[in-house]
Amino acid sequence: MAETIETLQKTSRVIQPSDSIKSGTYIQNYEQAYKQSIEDPENFWEGIAKELDWFSPWNKVLEWNYPWAKWFLGATCNISYNCLDRHTKSWRKNKVAVIWVGEDGQERIFTYAALHREVNKSANALKSLGLHKGDRVTIYLPKIPEQIFVMLACARIGLIHSVVYSGFSAPALQSRIQDAEARVVVTADLGYDRGKKIPLKTVVDEAVSNCPLVEKVIVVQREKGHFPLTAPKEIDWDEWVQGQSTDCEAIPLDSETPLYILYTSGTTGKPKGVVHVHGGYMVGTYITTKYVFDLKDEDVYFCVADPGWVTGHSYIVYGPLLNGATILTAEGKPDYPNPGRWWDLIEQYGVSIFYTTPTAIRLLMKYGEDWPKKYDLSSLKVLGSVGEPINPEAWEWFHRVTGGTKPIMDTWWQTETGMIMVTPLPSVPLKPGSATRPFLGVEADVVDREGKNTDHGGGFAVITKPWPSMMRTIYKDPDRYLLYWNTIPGVYTAGDVCHKDEDGYLWFMGRADDVVKVAGNRIGTAEVESALVSHESVVEAAVIGKPHPTAGEMIKAFVILKQGEHESTDLIKSLKDHVLRELGKIAVPREIEVVPSLPKTRSGKIMRRVLKAKELGQDPGDISTLEE
Ligand code: PRX
Repeated sequence: MAETIETLQKTSRVIQPSDSIKSGTYIQNYEQAYKQSIEDPENFWEGIAKELDWFSPWNKVLEWNYPWAKWFLGATCNISYNCLDRHTKSWRKNKVAVIWVGEDGQERIFTYAALHREVNKSANALKSLGLHKGDRVTIYLPKIPEQIFVMLACARIGLIHSVVYSGFSAPALQSRIQDAEARVVVTADLGYDRGKKIPLKTVVDEAVSNCPLVEKVIVVQREKGHFPLTAPKEIDWDEWVQGQSTDCEAIPLDSETPLYILYTSGTTGKPKGVVHVHGGYMVGTYITTKYVFDLKDEDVYFCVADPGWVTGHSYIVYGPLLNGATILTAEGKPDYPNPGRWWDLIEQYGVSIFYTTPTAIRLLMKYGEDWPKKYDLSSLKVLGSVGEPINPEAWEWFHRVTGGTKPIMDTWWQTETGMIMVTPLPSVPLKPGSATRPFLGVEADVVDREGKNTDHGGGFAVITKPWPSMMRTIYKDPDRYLLYWNTIPGVYTAGDVCHKDEDGYLWFMGRADDVVKVAGNRIGTAEVESALVSHESVVEAAVIGKPHPTAGEMIKAFVILKQGEHESTDLIKSLKDHVLRELGKIAVPREIEVVPSLPKTRSGKIMRRVLKAKELGQDPGDISTLEE
């Protein structure tokens, strides 16, 4: 963690909610609702849980055996049942659940009943492979509806899904399959990226060749015959689900049954498998989607994330479906085929809730205001931002081009928290650049290293009480879980630097640890370093995050070359290609500098903080432990 924390608070305007927004929203008086919720959080969460369906009730809301939590003890439930059956048994049966738009404009629409049938067929197909409750299934798919089907299908029969973002390369996929000990991998032949075909199947072939536990690979063939499949291990998706019954009961599961593992980066080279469970996760994602976005039945909800990341898990798939929402999900980039892509989708489908990222906003900003001006965006009601701090300039631009009256929910949370933790609600006065206040039932604070309240200053963001959708452990690595609760005694340390202003508003300022946020994607500097040192010409590497005008942060690497190796354009390119092959496009350093040595502590630890300060022309702070 950083030794000192500078407070970069800017004075900022306050935007009051309009009367019409305030009067129509679920939570009209945040202060009162918040106070009530934290006076008795268990009572608050129990009340929310009762809005969902359970097969059998709990006998205790929370068992807090610091730092291990169990929620809704003794109850049985199934998140897939709550996403599907709860709606198909109601008037929502024929309501549109998912509108999917492909990069090429292809459209696929599923009502709740149709989605239910697809999920059931996939669940029966999974059963036909002889999978049992608790088995892991790795999902490496582009953003297509099958990704949603198979996630819900796993949940339905108690399998644990591990979705891996389809931009990861073969070694990164392989290590995730191996760690999860997955028996099945679900993939597609191709993804599309700005018109280019991305051969996903080739990546899977390479990864799976080193994963002896994988018995079957299911392949969605978007262009049949592009890659011939090798029977009996590889199965075409259509053949796999063909003839399967459209009925499949969601099995009652103990509320603490694992739902998924999602790998995320930390301070070591090995990604962490964050584990979430059915019961608590369902309650947290359900209510945050409902209250933060003021989600009503008539809304059309568009979240631009990819289910390969946690935002897609919680706020494309689970949260919105738990609420019976109509979801728009679109493959592709915001500026392909042109920078009007998302504005056009908003107009075409009458989107009322639009959840996006600061990086995308900054990218669209570059193309200018004429693009959004071309479209009718009057259907918009509530906007959202996630993944990294949103700078006030981007906030103001987003606010202005969408009509100047739509509240922006700057939602702060993490893979580990499962749900949005700090966020405005539509009725809360906004300050551009601040995620404002904790969500109902959540107690967040800013403290110093000892855990003392910093009283309106900079410090570390912490959560002081357990919450239902908190991760339960790190898969096969409970010690790494403990670190979250031990770093500052008694509280959950998020790893973020934060400032609390005089109104109690929280301003998240970035990571305090060795994690870089490139375009909102979380990348561990250690992962990139180990990829670099696995290159034949490199002996040592250090990686830092550096501010970037669009992506928020970019990766800069410093490398020491092996004796006899010399810096050249070809070598730098070869290093970048190597990281691309090892980890994937998102982890490739934008800048690589060859250096003769690296700043280290006497015990040999690289002081990235010093490198960063030097790079940014800042004071490196305390360097008394520096060896050289
Ligand atoms: O640093 C914070 C940043 O993203 C981190 C979590 O990354 P990840 O687990 O990949 O989840 C991203 C999607 C929830 C946090 O530790 N972060 C997320 N949202 C915000 C943010 N930083 C500032 N403001 C936000 N709204």
